Amino acid sequence: MKNFIHIKVKPLSPNIGAEITGVDLANTLLTDVIDEIHEALILFLVVFFRDQSLTSSQLQQAAIQFGKPVPYPFVNGLDGFPEIIEVLKLPGEAENFGGVWHSDTAYLESPSMGAMLYAAEIPESGGDTLFANMYLAYQQLTKGMQSFLSTLSAVNDADKYLITQSRIHRLGDSVQKKLRAIHPVVRTHPETSKKLLYVNPAHTTRFSGMTRGESEGLLDYLFTVQSQPEHCCRFQWQAGSLAFWDNRACQHYPLNDYQGQKRLLYRISLAGDKPF
Ligand code: SIN
Repeated sequence: MKNFIHIKVKPLSPNIGAEITGVDLANTLLTDVIDEIHEALILFLVVFFRDQSLTSSQLQQAAIQFGKPVPYPFVNGLDGFPEIIEVLKLPGEAENFGGVWHSDTAYLESPSMGAMLYAAEIPESGGDTLFANMYLAYQQLTKGMQSFLSTLSAVNDADKYLITQSRIHRLGDSVQKKLRAIHPVVRTHPETSKKLLYVNPAHTTRFSGMTRGESEGLLDYLFTVQSQPEHCCRFQWQAGSLAFWDNRACQHYPLNDYQGQKRLLYRISLAGDKPF
């Protein structure tokens, strides 16, 4: 493993995720620390911090050190912090926000590069988030399938049924916004130049130039490959935990196993590039 000098990095699983210690995100970070956190993010796809205590302003400042915060298209931000949204489930609600495997905002021309999610209130147990490695999903496919998929683009919609259902308590009818983007099925990561599989169950509706019926079988197969347990890590939140993921290279899935309990986190997204 790479030797980090300014931060401590402990892998959470062999294939994705690492916990970083020795960093207080409420402070302005030294350039060396920012660089190493960024390196860890690129290497592990998602990094986690514990025991942070952040105001909205400090969360925003923490994010700015790694990119340009952008508003989330569906949920209004906090007063004074338009790029920070609540990820909230109340005790009486059945669905959890984003409760399906997804890559954020794949329906935009330039989906977010990453996001920070900071936990305020966490159920006594449950409400963990899974993260999956999309490089490994691609590498697991045969050369034949890899080269076939490299010829394809896919249609990504904001209003696919699975994901609109997950937003129903927060947004009601406004979830029906028609946002759509067509992206390559095999994406090249702009920083590592490595290939990865870039379709996801929440937003990808079909291959470009094909019907939903024609696309369904292969897409379902790819979705299964993407969430193979060996390619995942599972993060157990505590109040004060913060996850920072590379949205280009991983997908995430918040578990909905805490009915009757409240879960509240704050999320800030960072601007990304057009996938190629
Ligand atoms: C999200 O998709 O941003 C929410 C993830 C979570 O609630 O763990």
